[in-house]
Amino acid sequence: MIEVKKLTKIFISGEQRIVALDNLTFSVPEGQFLTVTGKSGSGKSTLLYQLGLLDLPTSGEVLIDGVDMIPVSENERTMTRLNDLGYIFQDYAIIPSLTALENTVVPLLMQGYPLPEAEEKAKKALIRVGLGDRMNNLPSQLSGGQQQRVAIARAIGHSPKIIFADEPTANLDSETSDQVIQTFIDLNKEGQTIVMVTHEPEYAKLAHRTITMADGKVLSDVMNKK
Ligand SMILES: Nc1ncnc2c1ncn2[C@@H]1O[C@H](COP(=O)(O)OP(=O)(O)OP(=O)(O)O)[C@@H](O)[C@H]1O
Ligand SMILES: [Mg+2]
Repeated sequence: MIEVKKLTKIFISGEQRIVALDNLTFSVPEGQFLTVTGKSGSGKSTLLYQLGLLDLPTSGEVLIDGVDMIPVSENERTMTRLNDLGYIFQDYAIIPSLTALENTVVPLLMQGYPLPEAEEKAKKALIRVGLGDRMNNLPSQLSGGQQQRVAIARAIGHSPKIIFADEPTANLDSETSDQVIQTFIDLNKEGQTIVMVTHEPEYAKLAHRTITMADGKVLSDVMNKK
């Protein structure tokens, strides 16, 4: 599903040259739940951004379904982002003036679905994340964990091949974090491929596999016992 070959990302700021990703090679098979962990500044977000085609590496390849998405046109990358990938960040980035349903419908309309189909997909996604009875609530009427699940519904509405999540529980208390992580586990059980960055070792371990980063390199890459 995802193959990374000799992926390197170097940031140049003034005199400084920061090797955020240092020649990484690995792959993520379809249906895998991969967590990426490591200290602050180790390159986790940078890795997620390159895998998610949200940024371009300095060198190396990022293959999605066998196609290197780095040399293709920006337009092709945008189409892949819209159609095949989904993203969840730590600040849920949902729109406060729109209901849970509207927040989930908007990106589907942007992807070109007609309204009835967009609504149908959005409702399905909200039901999948356990918010079937909160669709018409505004974000202010939802808990942090429920808001983050709206963000997950929005990311999965178009049935992406892969979802990328960067510290999705960073702003949540432990109980709501558990709910959000359980939502990811349930989605993965239904076959969803997930790459999730997390600081929390206990959450990292719930996934099939954990990559630990240090200074832009893979420190360890282990399959977790179930
Ligand atoms: N746009 C940028 N310009 C310059 N340096 C950057 C940029 N983005 C990241 N870096 C640097 O690259 C390194 C890796 O950053 P990254 O954000 O990937 O770390 P992280 O593992 O996600 O950390 P955290 O756990 O704090 O989120 C850091 O040294 C960071 O300062
Ligand atoms: Mg980060």
